[in-house]
Amino acid sequence: MSEFPAYLQHCQQRINEVLSRQFANEHPGLERLHAAMLYSVTIGGKRIRPMLVYASCEALGAPAEQADMAAAAVELIHAYSLIHDDLPAMDDDDLRRGQPTCHKAFDEATAILAGDGLQARAFELLSGAGQWQAETRLRMVQILARAAGPAGMVGGQAIDLAAVGHKLDLTALEDMHRHKTGALIVASVQLGALASERANAELLAALGEYAGCVGLAFQVQDDILDVRSDTSVLGKRQGADIARDKPTYPALLGLDEAQQLAKRLRDQAIQALSKFDHRADRLRQLADYIVERSF
Ligand code: IPE
Ligand code: IPE
Ligand code: MG
Ligand code: MG
Ligand code: MG
Repeated sequence: MSEFPAYLQHCQQRINEVLSRQFANEHPGLERLHAAMLYSVTIGGKRIRPMLVYASCEALGAPAEQADMAAAAVELIHAYSLIHDDLPAMDDDDLRRGQPTCHKAFDEATAILAGDGLQARAFELLSGAGQWQAETRLRMVQILARAAGPAGMVGGQAIDLAAVGHKLDLTALEDMHRHKTGALIVASVQLGALASERANAELLAALGEYAGCVGLAFQVQDDILDVRSDTSVLGKRQGADIARDKPTYPALLGLDEAQQLAKRLRDQAIQALSKFDHRADRLRQLADYIVERSF
């Protein structure tokens, strides 16, 4: 097994190629919309969700390439969520992945439409991916739609916006994080498992437990980095949560306790994979990477 950094790089290259192919044909007359979509998908990003899709597919003994379209679909949803998250009506951020946010590089209306367009493309890709049986595709579409919508990410974003300036208790904060970030991460792992066409209910339940922990840990670490990291490393403005009085784990628990929580969630995630063999090692390593990352 190659070293983990090489694996990360390999997955990034793989998903970048898959995503680039989706933007090969420009719609005549829609150059600006196309450019905004392409910008938001290709200017960077760690590609953690596609990696989770691939690693989950591999944990069940199937080759990563079998999960390409699922990995692309979740990343398109993620890219759309970032464009809208940065809009003036939401977090009002001007920096993303070290570059101007989509609405700064283009304009607000184009950014809104680029997000909408990416979301629709995600479902077009997933539903049309001929390598899986129609029933598998339908299940994937349902999982991704639910995770992206009001029961998942969009619901979490609504909770986030309503909570600005209020003090959430631990239960409410966890609920918000599980929706706005956790849901799409759980869906990534589920889609990877379904893409393998080797999943059964028991394995899916264990992967669901793993992904729930990793999904929450991911946003806890995102909150921590807003305090601890710096803008040049993060590629987004450090301190943006504090400036906007966002409810976050460090704000509620303090930095040390938030860090301990992220590590406990990492351990719990790895524990959930106890029935899996070495083929789940990438998932184990990803859990660790998610809480140890510096951007
Ligand atoms: C940032 O996600 C937004 C959250 C859900 C916290 P990532 O940290 O995965 O962002 P990129 O894709 O690497 O830029
Ligand atoms: C974003 O959470 C969650 C999304 C659904 C995009 P944040 O607002 O904390 O993400 P960043 O810090 O701007 O990347
Ligand atoms: Mg936000
Ligand atoms: Mg934000
Ligand atoms: Mg954040």
